[in-house]
Amino acid sequence: MARVTLLGSRNKSATAFDAARDIPCMAGKVVLITGAAGDLGRQTAIELARHGRPARIYVADLPRGEKARKAVVDRITHEASTETEGADILAPRTEVRFLDLDFRSFESVKACAAEFLAAEKRLDVLVLNAGIIRVATGTTKEGHEVHFGLNYLGHALLAKLLVPTLVHTAQQQLGADVRVVVVSSEGHAMAPKRGIQFDKLRTGCADMSYAQRYGQSKVALIHLARALGRQHPELKTAAVHPGRILTGMATALSKESLLVRVTAPIAPLFCVPVSVGIANHLWAVTSPAVVSGTYYEPVGVSGKESAVAKDKDLSGRLWEWTEGELKGVGGIV
Ligand SMILES: NC(=O)c1ccc[n+]([C@@H]2O[C@H](COP(=O)([O-])OP(=O)(O)OC[C@H]3O[C@@H](n4cnc5c(N)ncnc54)[C@H](OP(=O)(O)O)[C@@H]3O)[C@@H](O)[C@H]2O)c1
Repeated sequence: MARVTLLGSRNKSATAFDAARDIPCMAGKVVLITGAAGDLGRQTAIELARHGRPARIYVADLPRGEKARKAVVDRITHEASTETEGADILAPRTEVRFLDLDFRSFESVKACAAEFLAAEKRLDVLVLNAGIIRVATGTTKEGHEVHFGLNYLGHALLAKLLVPTLVHTAQQQLGADVRVVVVSSEGHAMAPKRGIQFDKLRTGCADMSYAQRYGQSKVALIHLARALGRQHPELKTAAVHPGRILTGMATALSKESLLVRVTAPIAPLFCVPVSVGIANHLWAVTSPAVVSGTYYEPVGVSGKESAVAKDKDLSGRLWEWTEGELKGVGGIV
């Protein structure tokens, strides 16, 4: 990938990120990326495999037939091998494995974590990337509003189940670089005024706009990165807004929104392609400049989160609520 500097009005203070130069050797490391059949997750896997060559990358995404799973794995493996300049030539190629994961169900999240833990003793990088926007009003299997349940609570459950392995990995080596990257969004600013409507989370939040429902789930993800960083100083955590990028999410939005369909021809004026937008994910996964617990907008710019995303009381209340909802799930106490 060539050196990329994100463009656009919100990206003026962008940092140049050169994948070949800036992704370090990741030999022997294990990476798990959620939503990695989708555009940003897949490209993250491709660039890490191409330039960092970790031992294994787990692609965790919605269950699909054997042929479709193989297609996802083959695409990442093939694209990662198309350019090797800058990679550590002594490192073996990355093995890509697919894990079934449906965040709409705690059972599926537990099964995904169990399958991973049965295969691995270490985890160096966890990228919580899967996400939905503007889906019909509804709830997950456990009865939580679907954006909140999938974007936030499912990821919080997966993180809780994998944190012991992340911490164990960090403790194996002095100065180990073990990370959790949480993919939030500038859309977190669309959350309701008080940030999260706790009393409605066990409903479809039918009286809220889709933007508010998406927004509150993305505010919660910023707090998740901060909470994990605070509770586990051996880990480096970051929350990111990746930028405005033309991905499957734009396709999904266009099905639901006339405005998105009408503005589609001029979208390239205010959005960037995946090859450019992926810089923020990669920066957060690899840069030594990341300060644990911090929210970044592309690339590496901190301090842009909304007041509710900084609110310590909200953070405490969310964690208490989260622990209550997850108590007893997969052995969580
Ligand atoms: N693109 C942007 O401009 C932008 C801006 C701000 C934030 N983001 C964030 O970036 C992240 C990646 O999105 P993207 O732009 O790459 O969109 P994408 O291509 O739609 O990727 C989203 C991924 O999440 C997966 N997913 C959906 N429902 C799931 C479920 N129930 N369980 C597990 N996985 C599920 C999707 O699977 P399927 O494809 O199989 O449905 C897809 O692989 C999201 O968290 C999004 O909110 C994107």
